[in-house]
Amino acid sequence: MTAIPPTFRAYTARKTDDGFERGTVDFHEAELPPGEVEIRVGWSSVNFKDGLATRVDGKVARISPLIPGIDLAGEVIASADPSIGVGSTVLAHGYELGVSRHGGYSTFQRVPSEWVVPLAPGLSARDAMAIGTAGFTAAMSVVALEERGLGPASGPVLVTGASGGVGGTAVAILADRGYEVWAATGKPEEAGRLLALGAAGIMGRDEVTAEGRPLESERWAGAVDAVGAATLPYVLRTLRVGAAVAASGNASGVKLDTTVFPFILRGVALLGMDSVNLAIGRRRALWDRLATDLRPRDLGVHCTEVTLETLDPALDAILAGAARGRWIVRIGE
Ligand SMILES: NC(=O)c1ccc[n+]([C@@H]2O[C@H](COP(=O)([O-])OP(=O)(O)OC[C@H]3O[C@@H](n4cnc5c(N)ncnc54)[C@H](OP(=O)(O)O)[C@@H]3O)[C@@H](O)[C@H]2O)c1
Repeated sequence: MTAIPPTFRAYTARKTDDGFERGTVDFHEAELPPGEVEIRVGWSSVNFKDGLATRVDGKVARISPLIPGIDLAGEVIASADPSIGVGSTVLAHGYELGVSRHGGYSTFQRVPSEWVVPLAPGLSARDAMAIGTAGFTAAMSVVALEERGLGPASGPVLVTGASGGVGGTAVAILADRGYEVWAATGKPEEAGRLLALGAAGIMGRDEVTAEGRPLESERWAGAVDAVGAATLPYVLRTLRVGAAVAASGNASGVKLDTTVFPFILRGVALLGMDSVNLAIGRRRALWDRLATDLRPRDLGVHCTEVTLETLDPALDAILAGAARGRWIVRIGE
């Protein structure tokens, strides 16, 4: 028995002979894989990886057709797991969602119960998708740095790609926790918004992407980097003795051109962030914190709403580096 109707609206990406075809279709319930929890999806979001999942050269989509969307949130309409009640508000993200298993750009979805995160009171489905995988990764990054000893008194913390999803949420979380946070951005026109999020200062992209000596003046007590190739070399050579960078992304590319000096002469640490494979217990615990002490400032304000019908421009824009906050996808609410 299923609570999902025989056909429903979904956005799909489908390989064709000469590329990818994408857009909304009537999808058949019988084509969804098995799973313990059925969800009426209220909201999803647009992440960098979602952009890649809808491009032939993106190397993300593992099935065709694929309903992309690595994030979803909504109401449980059927559950074979007694710990996840019908009528409760939940989210799912990570693991295979939106990559090798149908994801969030769908009015209904069926997922394994061990992927489901019940939402804490005070965090709506819309709030959760305003955070999404990008914001969750920002929170993971802050927690990883703090578990290694970073605190507001340690000194200034740098966030690169600050206008984007990971970057902007990291700025907000760090500022709310009392850090002196510096936002590096390639979009000078975003400075006002980043200062409103709590940034103490703005750095231009030129400075954080410039070539430099293997080690430069020790400046940063910590850093959050989701940009990768273009910025991580600068971050490593300007971290203070014993400091760490939480690295999650490749928005500018995947090659890392650095020396070993930051590691062997300053004891710098490169902390890899992988939100996809995080165990469900730790994932649920971090979402509980995102509803409380890690809740980003002005949640949902710095979002642009799109629908399944208006997704295409957002998916293209995020790959072009044009993010200004987060895009959230209104699906069913
Ligand atoms: N490891 C994980 O679990 C995980 C989870 C989530 C995301 N990610 C990755 O993290 C990255 C960011 O994701 P997101 O959703 O935050 O993307 P996003 O919203 O597009 O943000 C990326 C930001 O990076 C900056 N940027 C883009 N191209 C650049 C370039 N060529 N040189 C310098 N800066 C550039 C831009 O910010 P400015 O204009 O402000 O500089 C852009 O807004 C992606 O690679 C994504 O795949 C990884």
